[in-house]
Amino acid sequence: DGAALRSGPLAGRRILVSAGGTREPIDPVRFLGNRSSGKQGAALARAALAAGAEVTFVAAHLDVAPPEGADLVRVDSALELRDAMVERAPDADVIVMAAAVADFRPAEQHASKIKKRDDTADPVITLVRNPDILAELVQRRNAAGRPQLIVGFAAETGDAGASVLDYARDKLERKGCELLVLNEVGTDRVFGRDENSVTILARDGSEPEHAEGSKDEVAAAVIRRVTRELEAQQT
Ligand code: CTP
Ligand code: CA
Repeated sequence: DGAALRSGPLAGRRILVSAGGTREPIDPVRFLGNRSSGKQGAALARAALAAGAEVTFVAAHLDVAPPEGADLVRVDSALELRDAMVERAPDADVIVMAAAVADFRPAEQHASKIKKRDDTADPVITLVRNPDILAELVQRRNAAGRPQLIVGFAAETGDAGASVLDYARDKLERKGCELLVLNEVGTDRVFGRDENSVTILARDGSEPEHAEGSKDEVAAAVIRRVTRELEAQQT
């Protein structure tokens, strides 16, 4: 498939990228979703391809075209995304979890469309927690003793109790991944937009790195950082 012809700093490396927003089924025609466009994830996959990597792109719902040249896997729900990632993770040198995974899903999926009837009470949708895919991928990697670089994303807002950076450091610790790309979110920021501004945090405690610009520029900065981490692992 031309893999042998690829050149660049990530030639010979396999990168597994998840992107887009999951859709959690309520009934055959309805779902709970989120505003993720998949733009940043698609840009990351393109940046990895441009750097010579072999890319598998696991796409939940996207508002953009999937990256050309990547091996495309389509999923809908968080549970499907989890299965797709766990299946492909063992082959990856790098995993990038850019997908917006629903934290909760409807406890039950109705087999037929929920009808509005005058003689029954309005439905109540009970939610249950979805598995934490990123944390599971880290656990599996650790259990297998595999060298693998895992990158998480975080959309955070600061509040009176703690700053965005504090929340992000906490999340990085909790998830156990090597890098965490932090997006500061607020009204009108990030979702669906072409510009982005992120801070890349590393578990090794090195100085946080700021990157901003188009989502392609941010993606290139993240991929440069990934490349540096891989080079450091080898020495
Ligand atoms: N993530 C995941 N599985 C989930 C939820 C999130 O793999 N069920 C991943 C996301 O893809 C992202 C990272 O975890 O790379 C952080 O997601 P985020 O929503 O910021 O963190 P949560 O752990 O869900 O915490 P919260 O939403 O409460 O801040
Ligand atoms: Ca979440």
